[in-house]
Amino acid sequence: MPSGLGQEGIFIYMRKTTILDIKDMKRQRRKIAVLTAYDYTMAKILDSAGAPILLVGDSLGMVSAGYESTLPVTIDEMIYHTRAVARGSKNALIVVDMPFLSYQISIEEAKRNAGRLVKEGGAEAVKLEGGENIADTIKAINDMGVPVMGHIGLMPQSVHKMGGYKVQGRTKKERQQIMKDAKAVEKAGAFSILLEGIPSGLAKKITESVSIPTIGIGAGLHCDGQVLVLHDMLGLYKDISPRFVKKYLDLNSMITNAVKDYIKDVEMKRFPEKKHSF
Ligand code: KIV
Repeated sequence: MPSGLGQEGIFIYMRKTTILDIKDMKRQRRKIAVLTAYDYTMAKILDSAGAPILLVGDSLGMVSAGYESTLPVTIDEMIYHTRAVARGSKNALIVVDMPFLSYQISIEEAKRNAGRLVKEGGAEAVKLEGGENIADTIKAINDMGVPVMGHIGLMPQSVHKMGGYKVQGRTKKERQQIMKDAKAVEKAGAFSILLEGIPSGLAKKITESVSIPTIGIGAGLHCDGQVLVLHDMLGLYKDISPRFVKKYLDLNSMITNAVKDYIKDVEMKRFPEKKHSF
């Protein structure tokens, strides 16, 4: 990330983005564009396009494995995907979700699993869902040298408790709790906080009240950064289009048409041509 023309027009080569760069971006009022990545090829493309953070989200359970929720995702699955992303990424900071049940049972287990993501996967930071309730866990992981991104508001691992994927912070009491969660996550030493599915007014207040960057998804314009699930922004799904997603491509139609063309070419003996043959 930190590259480009420096003073006197001398080109500065890209280097790995660190959590210090991400914190600086808030101070410098530069917005932070985060995308999810789950495999080597996509990580390579997103990294060379300049994304400062690649998030190996446990959303991979839904978009790559076809699970109904993120709940079945295991630590071993996260490690497998993290390795692939790490191999494809030269510059982006690699943040990895700790999956359900990998950090809730005990601080000891949380530390071991965070350590595995770093040691076996190549994670450079981990993300945990929760606020005040997991502040001690965030602190313990951070204290062992693994940076933590918090995740508050709509927390997909708590889908059953929330009664669905619903915007959080609709009532005053909920808003007060989410603000307390943000402060607790900051105090515990997190380097940033993901704010998911909360009213933009609340996201603005949190962003102004904490010193660490906020990364929003379905949380409006005022966050320090934004994150989107790659499959959503590339338009890989015909049927699902949440309101907070902006589709930058209609990749579903593009792939469908390309595959149809290929099938037709094979059936009509138009492929392979002489130039494709030896
Ligand atoms: O798992 C994920 O992809 C996430 C999203 C909220 C970005 O955490």
